[in-house]
Amino acid sequence: MTAGLDLGRPQTQAIASDEDVVRVRQLVRTVAVAVKLSLVDQTKLVTAASELARNTLVYGGGGSVEVGLVDNGRRRGVRIVFADEGPGIADLDLALTDGYTTGGGLGLGLSGARRLVDEFDIETAVGRGTRVTVTKWSR
Ligand SMILES: Nc1ncnc2c1ncn2[C@@H]1O[C@H](COP(=O)(O)OP(=O)(O)OP(=O)(O)O)[C@@H](O)[C@H]1O
Ligand SMILES: [Mg+2]
Repeated sequence: MTAGLDLGRPQTQAIASDEDVVRVRQLVRTVAVAVKLSLVDQTKLVTAASELARNTLVYGGGGSVEVGLVDNGRRRGVRIVFADEGPGIADLDLALTDGYTTGGGLGLGLSGARRLVDEFDIETAVGRGTRVTVTKWSR
């Protein structure tokens, strides 16, 4: 399915269903292998991406993901941007607290994802939406 993927440009995909979340996992795995992340780091990144994709679907009401390759001259890495135009997050610090959930989850998705990647950034505005950007570098 991902054969012939052009990694020279970011891959964009909709997140509108559980199947899309599975596809995000596959896409992230493929790009992580391409930049030679270790197996452990591949799995960390796929796990983080899975949580963030699920949040985009469940809380954001769906959205999109962009998976791209980055290069800082010393290392290569994978950068993933999740975007939705949902309700946004009113209290980001609270949302990032272990165990905080408004949806009856474990409240470990955002906080866990943050620990699994090298760079983690959230831009959110109430009533406008949420954009989460994560990066993991090869080492
Ligand atoms: N994209 C989003 N848009 C709006 N709110 C969000 C978004 N992502 C997360 N949130 C809010 O942040 C809270 C914490 O998210 P987190 O992923 O940590 O936990 P959860 O999804 O509730 O449970 P879990 O991921 O452990 O199953 C959510 O309950 C929700 O209120
Ligand atoms: Mg979650």
